[in-house]
Amino acid sequence: MTNKLRYFVANWKMFGHLKSVNSLNKVINFKKKNKKAKNLKIIYCPPFTLIYPFIQKLKKTGIKTGAQNCNFGSNYGPPTGSINAMMIKSLNCEYVILGHSENRAKGENDNIINKKIISALESKLKIIFCIGETSTQKKRKLTKKTLLSQLSKGLKKVKNKKNILIAYEPVWSIGSGIIPKIKDLENISNYIKLFLANNMKFKNPKVLYGGSVNPKNISLLNKIKNLDGFLIGGASQNSDKFIDIIKKTFN
Ligand code: PGA
Repeated sequence: MTNKLRYFVANWKMFGHLKSVNSLNKVINFKKKNKKAKNLKIIYCPPFTLIYPFIQKLKKTGIKTGAQNCNFGSNYGPPTGSINAMMIKSLNCEYVILGHSENRAKGENDNIINKKIISALESKLKIIFCIGETSTQKKRKLTKKTLLSQLSKGLKKVKNKKNILIAYEPVWSIGSGIIPKIKDLENISNYIKLFLANNMKFKNPKVLYGGSVNPKNISLLNKIKNLDGFLIGGASQNSDKFIDIIKKTFN
């Protein structure tokens, strides 16, 4: 990657308790002291329980906060146990991850994801929209078809595309330690960007890669010029590893 703005999204998944907030100190200091961190956009997506403490801790650091999912609908009401975009925004949280394969696996379909994207944008949240093929789809050479379908259904009737980042996360790569071949990844990122620009009216499409990003493979992944950053799960839960990953992308 070059001098352009690069995103490093930390997806903490179901990890962390109140004391974990202190682990942000290292990352805050790293961002403050490192001149090369100027072109970085670090976004922490902790579980709902930690969004507010994270926002307090990250005030005036330039590091942003996001939720890992939200419900659709912009009023108060049922269903029990749900949190919608308006509630997340009310905490001054800026981002939300939508369409993550771990939620798709629980029954979230493209239609639900589409409703979530629309209501999150209405609440002025920025979206990290996850797409990716399963290993079966990959084996059957259905990767591009799957991505195209997820993008067109998920973004149906979405007017304002400015605040949407796409995260390409092959399902078979998440948490497995396996990453795609660099050539394949470059090719897919290119394919997504072209589709978004030509068919979905995106002016400047941004694509992040997610799936087993770690300090060992980041230098290789960083060779891919058309990626705009990374969505990092497991490795982001450890501040040293997360910083190490970021540092290794500095040229
Ligand atoms: P991983 O997760 O880095 O642990 O593979 C990525 C993700 O699920 O966003």
